[in-house]
Amino acid sequence: MAARDESGFLERCAELRRLAFSFSDPLIVHHYDADGVSSGALVAGAFLDEGKKFRRECIKKLDDAAIDRFAGEREVIFVDLGGGNRRVDELKDVLIIDHHQTEGIGKPQANPMLHGLDGGNELSAAGTAYCVFRKRPDLAIVGAVGDMQHPLTGMNRWVLSEGEKSGDVLVEKDLSFYGRYCRPLVSFLAFCDDPFIPGISYREDKAQELLAELGIGLEKRPQDAGGRKQGLRVYADLDDDEKRRLVSALAKILIGGNRMRGLNELIGESYVFPKRQRDETFEANEFSTLLNACGRHSRPEIGVRVCLGDAGAQEEARKLLALHRRSLRDGMGFASNHVQDFGAFYFLDGRGIIDEGIVGVVCGMALSQAWEKPIIGAALGENGTIKISGRSPRGLVEHGMNLSELMKSACIASGGVGGGHNVAAGASIPDGRINEFLLSAGEYVRGRRK
Ligand code: C5P
Repeated sequence: MAARDESGFLERCAELRRLAFSFSDPLIVHHYDADGVSSGALVAGAFLDEGKKFRRECIKKLDDAAIDRFAGEREVIFVDLGGGNRRVDELKDVLIIDHHQTEGIGKPQANPMLHGLDGGNELSAAGTAYCVFRKRPDLAIVGAVGDMQHPLTGMNRWVLSEGEKSGDVLVEKDLSFYGRYCRPLVSFLAFCDDPFIPGISYREDKAQELLAELGIGLEKRPQDAGGRKQGLRVYADLDDDEKRRLVSALAKILIGGNRMRGLNELIGESYVFPKRQRDETFEANEFSTLLNACGRHSRPEIGVRVCLGDAGAQEEARKLLALHRRSLRDGMGFASNHVQDFGAFYFLDGRGIIDEGIVGVVCGMALSQAWEKPIIGAALGENGTIKISGRSPRGLVEHGMNLSELMKSACIASGGVGGGHNVAAGASIPDGRINEFLLSAGEYVRGRRK
């Protein structure tokens, strides 16, 4: 990897902003996960702000068929992809804004990896797009959180400070559970297992009892924050005293259960966007889930519109979120008793059961950071292909595990195309070649252990 050079990277980004705006009517092609949608929206938003023409398209993967399709385009801006496929060099005017591992690409590329900055951990595609266009830092933070880069470090920290300066982003230190702004209190407590709260996690009845014991009402009161006065309260509706009572009750349970590590994880940093409504787009984690719901259920344009502040798209996005939650719950239900130990890695064969759009998310949820091996999932993909997703515990990556390399070498063995990051990567392989893929993946993991 090149020597770390933050200012060289930012200078290159400024140069490439000029290149982007010299295009007369580019096609912006972006990826479909939360980072892909937020980065695509960030680039599209920058063109809108300048009053410049563009078209936009979201794709699941940049394979040969996609490259062939873009051959007639005069100008293409690839976002959150492009750095991994050398055939982009066959196209006409191209700009790549990516953060994946990249090698041997001749076209101009804004990519932290080319400047010694780790695109897997410290800058997402949306963060890279922010460095190019210097607009909408909130979307850069959503992309980073969506790409599992929380807690933010390195270049992400710089983007965060820019967002704080412009008033788009605020850092909060509070309960680290998911859903402080949108999840009703009982689910908020019962569906959180990070940290695991003995007797409360996965126990809605016990979560409800605890809230009753603490005198915390479940129904919204007239004085509760937020536009919606009716319905169930969320954590953000609690007053300071109620929050204090709840946090200290959870801390007591953890101390009683001798879970001191959990105690350290109870309070954490999160990122909120004061210029947005207090809805699913107010907090980075909840926003990224909403975008994943849109992108991974084939409606990325809804996510892009939400990113750009189109209130009309919000209702549709909410419906997709409900669908996403149901699919994840079903996927996790299946994973809970179908993850197989293949020796070198865990394998989740979700073909015909788990949708290709969410198999990676399910693998990420099923993964335990304590595992000593990665998890590889499979689902039925488009046009008779098999979609592969891999996720690795971070500790293993520190010892040399690189799932992007694993995908690439297993793709050579199986005739597929793949890539990504060291902790999260994916591939698409022809039907009938899964055995070659898995054998090669096993060899790669065993090779890393030597
Ligand atoms: O689809 P999934 O969430 O498993 O993707 C994980 C990572 O791998 C993403 O960053 C994605 O861009 C990358 N990937 C890839 N080529 C594929 C599939 C996924 O580079 N064919």
